[in-house]
Amino acid sequence: MGKNSSPRPETIAAHALRATDAATGAVVPPIYLSTTYARDENYAPRLKENYVRSGSPNVWQAEDTIAALEKGKAALLFVSGMAAITALLETVPMGGHVAACHSMYYGTRNWLELLRDKGRITLTLFDAAEPGALEKALTPKTDLVWIETPTNPMWTVVDIQAAAKAAHKVGAILAVDATALAAVTTLPLSLGADIVFHSVTKYLNGHSDVLGGVLVTQEATPRWSEIATLRTKTSSPLPPFECFLLQRGMRTLFVRYAQASGNALAIARHFSNHPKVQAVLYPGLATHTGHAIAKRQMLNGYGGMMSLVLKTDFAGAQKFCTGLKVITPATSLGGVESLAEHRKTVEGPQSPTPDNLVRLSIGIENVNDLVADIEQALTEV
Ligand SMILES: Cc1ncc(COP(=O)(O)O)c(C=O)c1O
Repeated sequence: MGKNSSPRPETIAAHALRATDAATGAVVPPIYLSTTYARDENYAPRLKENYVRSGSPNVWQAEDTIAALEKGKAALLFVSGMAAITALLETVPMGGHVAACHSMYYGTRNWLELLRDKGRITLTLFDAAEPGALEKALTPKTDLVWIETPTNPMWTVVDIQAAAKAAHKVGAILAVDATALAAVTTLPLSLGADIVFHSVTKYLNGHSDVLGGVLVTQEATPRWSEIATLRTKTSSPLPPFECFLLQRGMRTLFVRYAQASGNALAIARHFSNHPKVQAVLYPGLATHTGHAIAKRQMLNGYGGMMSLVLKTDFAGAQKFCTGLKVITPATSLGGVESLAEHRKTVEGPQSPTPDNLVRLSIGIENVNDLVADIEQALTEV
């Protein structure tokens, strides 16, 4: 690295930005469990906040790392992904309009629908795969456009640059759920998004042992200050121990993501023409409807997330999941271990997810073990 150049993303992650403890030189920073911080001799606060409900040294370290990776102005970590999403949605004015892609994490969609049913917001859900659908969903009153890419669990790829342009044309902001992109393969803020969201429960932590969410902003706007205030008032910053684990997880983010992406691409190709598989939904496949955008937008691999649409029914898809021996039948994603989930069971009968779809979160195991496991489970379907 040259004298004046800034560290590259892999270095930022491996060093957890610059986590070395200034007081002791400890390479791994301490966990500050204190809930309160003493004022100095002039009775001034020593830190930017002196009570843990507003933040703590561990949360600031983890936020600085994520903001640097996303090339954002600032980040705010919350106790869960849904807590972060809730805080953002709270900033929509009473009766304000939200446009959101229909295929997305069902928890967010349900929450948006609940807010709509209560009259808190107006909502238009659009099909992100349909050209022009987003533009049609927008009105001069649209306050927030919410997209997820690739969308969970269909893995539709949304063109972030085009979405930002459309949102800004009507004076709305664009927020991107980039959980599957993991701050590795696409940086939405650099493509025009205003706010990026991650469930850090997934790739950023990567070890299935922290629940958390983060918002990263392009600019310090009044909306951003409101989000920070909401986080304090709702007592929802990520606690110090979870921040420590998250920082530790992020140190290996790039190697984990590369290994998961390589495994997933190999698996997607292997099962593309399997007699028991109707379709493999994976943006890295040339046959995927969103591949052209993915190729342009996902620069460091296509990630570890995919879905198999099996030539079977609801019960057969469940049987496939329970027949797996290496891959664990469990919810969540982005961890080092591979997981499989029958989404229709979780999302319920009203969900548009096909009965015969199984979502796979591919981890960092030996790919031959994963292929063999899927092969053997398919024989029982
Ligand atoms: C894409 C996506 N967004 C948001 C969430 C919600 O995050 P959390 O479970 O951390 O609250 C999830 C959780 O599964 C998710 O997969």
